[in-house]
Amino acid sequence: MKTVKDYIRTIPDFPHEGIMFRDVTTLFADPRGFRMAIDQLLHPYAGQPIDRVVGLEARGFILGGAIAHQLSLGFVPIRKKGKLPGKTIEQDYQLEYGEAIMEVHDDALQPGERVLLVDDLLATGGTAEAGIKLIERIGASVMGCAFIIDLPELGGRKKLEDMGMNVHILCE
Ligand code: PRP
Ligand code: ADE
Repeated sequence: MKTVKDYIRTIPDFPHEGIMFRDVTTLFADPRGFRMAIDQLLHPYAGQPIDRVVGLEARGFILGGAIAHQLSLGFVPIRKKGKLPGKTIEQDYQLEYGEAIMEVHDDALQPGERVLLVDDLLATGGTAEAGIKLIERIGASVMGCAFIIDLPELGGRKKLEDMGMNVHILCE
């Protein structure tokens, strides 16, 4: 039987020379692969008290939307700067290839809410760390951080675990 990893393809030298881009569009496009990924991402959180699903732009929206629907919860996007129309708080962060700013609407979460944070891939952990900081600045707490792919040589899992996060990842 195929695993989640079998549906992911690698595109060399995207978006820059030397980057091996792990492309999950082939996983998302396959009905068995997509369901397997959503079910496996959710598995450790069955029965846990989660109030809201938060997804990181861009592929975290696709996963987070499906997970929120499965749990009958609302979905909140964390976006690259300049995309959200309402009042936001922002957080800068480093990427594997550059730096950027993430934003969330300042009224998208309530203090005390328990959040499941979702994205497709964990590399340096900079994006997820920015997301966690935004969620915590609002006064909500992160119950878990779920990803499909870890790039272990970039240290993201350790960074999040050192922050005290529960980290769940399907493959390396
Ligand atoms: C990718 C990926 C994560 C992030 C992980 O997104 O989807 O969000 O990189 O990298 P990090 O752990 O080093 O922060 P990307 O920044 O390529 O943006 P996109 O989703 O808008 O394409
Ligand atoms: N984000 C950061 N590094 C990446 C990679 N190698 N593949 C896909 N997304 C990424």
